[in-house]
Amino acid sequence: MRPVKRVSVLGSTGSIGRQTLDVIRDCSDQFEAVALTAFKNTDALKRQAEEFGVKSIAVMDEGAGRRSGVPCGMRAIIDAATHPDADIVVIAVAGVIGLLPTLAAIEAGKSIALASKEVLVAAGEVVMPKIREKNIALTPIDSEHSAVFQCMQGIKEEDVKRIILTASGGPFRGKKTEDLREITQEQALQHPTWRMGGKITIDSATLMNKGLEVIEAKWLFNLEADQVDVVIHPQSIVHSMVETKDGSVISQMGWPNMRLPILYALAHPDRTPNNLPQWNPASTPVMTFEEPDVATFRCLPMAYEALKQGGTMPCVLNAANEVAANGFLEGRCGFLEIAEIVEKVMEKHRPAKVDLDSLLATDKWARATARSLMSV
Ligand SMILES: NC(=O)c1ccc[n+]([C@@H]2O[C@H](COP(=O)([O-])OP(=O)(O)OC[C@H]3O[C@@H](n4cnc5c(N)ncnc54)[C@H](OP(=O)(O)O)[C@@H]3O)[C@@H](O)[C@H]2O)c1
Repeated sequence: MRPVKRVSVLGSTGSIGRQTLDVIRDCSDQFEAVALTAFKNTDALKRQAEEFGVKSIAVMDEGAGRRSGVPCGMRAIIDAATHPDADIVVIAVAGVIGLLPTLAAIEAGKSIALASKEVLVAAGEVVMPKIREKNIALTPIDSEHSAVFQCMQGIKEEDVKRIILTASGGPFRGKKTEDLREITQEQALQHPTWRMGGKITIDSATLMNKGLEVIEAKWLFNLEADQVDVVIHPQSIVHSMVETKDGSVISQMGWPNMRLPILYALAHPDRTPNNLPQWNPASTPVMTFEEPDVATFRCLPMAYEALKQGGTMPCVLNAANEVAANGFLEGRCGFLEIAEIVEKVMEKHRPAKVDLDSLLATDKWARATARSLMSV
């Protein structure tokens, strides 16, 4: 019998957070929740705390915290991330706001299960050395990175030639720029294969999500940008691939269902029997692969460009995109303006050397600049 792992879930009211609690509920002999956080959804948070018997909860939003009596603000979120009973912290907040709690959890020696890709995109250069210094177990939750992580078990780092991240192509695969001019929020929120939070669904529609994942993969797997390729695979069955230097291509496959990568991230290095729907190859007789259309979906090449320029540029890409993608959801800019805003903010920035202070200042500048470019 393995000891129960105790879990703090940052962003427990979101798509990944709720699915993490589903996994904890289904495997209650293995996992126990000890702290939960949200942005301002105190009603859902309190219901979760009651169901899972969790005493430590926090919200980021101070108004919501004051109204509900829930501890609030960054300090309270960091307390949840460093809860003395927690063995592992699931980082599943939407955006780079997860950076300081992640660093605090690492400092406190917690294992990290990371969904919030923005943390590594903006600050991989700060986070990864800390992970190594503190000898922290970091497991990815993103399905593509979980796939690569799983494929790499047993492969020596120097034997990896490249990785191939798969992308569904989003709801607008096959469309050209002209077709995308009048896209509404409702259309962009219709993802063909995954049900996710709002911001990541918009990122999937622009292909920025894949660009962010390229940068995340660089940091997680210690690769150069030209070792991370992207292929469109609309069926979302092959979750990603690793090519070794002898030309073998190894993949991890299954139905698109985040509960499996979440379970793997929590249970690693163990494998856990479960009741998730099992995939049978005969149920997907046709699997297709195609090159991404980088002329139409410009966010993907922009992410490679940010990685090439390095320093603080990926932080700028991420911050401008967070503002623009959320701005599109709020009706403050059009769909095509997302890429335009990110591009303009990047053009205004000269990448600088990275440390935590320069990243926080750059993030703030890029957000303000992106806001000033918004049409409404
Ligand atoms: N959803 C997926 O299938 C999926 C797959 C791979 C990776 N990811 C990554 O996982 C992360 C979360 O995605 P999601 O789809 O679960 O997002 P989501 O459904 O929008 O949930 C976000 C969670 O974070 C909280 N939150 C939002 N803003 C916050 C802030 N400023 N401070 C503190 N907490 C905040 C939200 O609380 P409230 O409920 O109070 O707003 C909610 O609990 C993202 O980085 C995404 O890229 C998601």
